[in-house]
Amino acid sequence: MWTKNNIPDLSGKIAIVTGSNTGIGFETAKALFAAGAQVTIAARDVQKAKKAIQKIQSDTAGTGTLDYGKLDLANIGQVREFADLFMQKHTKLDILVNNAGVMVPPAAKTDDGFELQFGVNFMGHFALTGYLLPLLKQTANARVVTLSSGAATLVDSIDFDNLRLEKSYDEWRAYAVSKLADILFSYELHRRFRNARMSAIAVAAHPGVTRTDLQRNIPDENLEGMFAAFDQVMDPWQGALPSLFAATDASVEGGKFYGPDGPKEYAGYPALSNHHTAAMNDEALAKRLWDYAENAIQLTYKFK
Ligand SMILES: NC(=O)c1ccc[n+]([C@@H]2O[C@H](COP(=O)([O-])OP(=O)(O)OC[C@H]3O[C@@H](n4cnc5c(N)ncnc54)[C@H](OP(=O)(O)O)[C@@H]3O)[C@@H](O)[C@H]2O)c1
Repeated sequence: MWTKNNIPDLSGKIAIVTGSNTGIGFETAKALFAAGAQVTIAARDVQKAKKAIQKIQSDTAGTGTLDYGKLDLANIGQVREFADLFMQKHTKLDILVNNAGVMVPPAAKTDDGFELQFGVNFMGHFALTGYLLPLLKQTANARVVTLSSGAATLVDSIDFDNLRLEKSYDEWRAYAVSKLADILFSYELHRRFRNARMSAIAVAAHPGVTRTDLQRNIPDENLEGMFAAFDQVMDPWQGALPSLFAATDASVEGGKFYGPDGPKEYAGYPALSNHHTAAMNDEALAKRLWDYAENAIQLTYKFK
């Protein structure tokens, strides 16, 4: 049973957790701080980030430091600003947790015209990781953890002609596509790190079923019925364990997917995930997605 007590000493490590003003990201940032890391709470609302810092400081006797940065993943220009500012302050980045996410919102687009879930959950993190690549390159054994979901197994493809709401909107399908994109990104990023002979690793994680603000778009009358369909619903501290394991444990391997070890991976303690689908392991699809993303936002990852 791996818990946050197993996190090694992170003194001197620099970490970013996106969407860490609440939920799983908040618990992830808190535990990294408690273990001694210098953590940046990356949030779209600076007031919420400041409140999160106050709460962590009052709850936790951490030995790390806490800072915040304004990061709106629905605006690629703003993602670039966040990364530029971060790179002015830091010369390395040990742990990047691509955690922020949005689930089943009403149909909407990001500022750059992507369907909101695809745009925030995947495109924003694709951009963030790419803009921060110079720091990842100059850090020994950096880790990029990207949050996916069991929902990634629900779709077997990506419709590249429907990433900007061109067709009718199915909110659950769009969420699943965004989470499939996250895992394809994580696996492909790891292959590219390896090809460039970088020491960095990319790892995917999913938190099982955790009660958080993620369910904010599901009407109250439907929510309890939805949760009742799962054997167990976790609190955010436990939902954060797969991310924390992926970000810090010495046994973790790049290019792998971690989640809770209980039945159907709804709950439990961190372990290798058994979620594998043909689409998740489709290297041609991962490459196509990568090329799509680079072209769409005019960002070329420079590994060498
Ligand atoms: N909870 C689960 O059962 C579950 C299951 C599978 C996967 N996941 C994944 O786990 C991750 C964390 O989710 P959670 O459950 O902790 O949800 P949450 O409590 O709703 O937290 C999501 C975070 O993402 C932030 N965010 C949303 N849109 C953003 C944007 N445009 N730019 C920057 N940040 C943005 C939110 O900020 P605001 O507070 O300002 O909205 C919040 O900080 C997500 O990637 C989710 O897909 C969760």
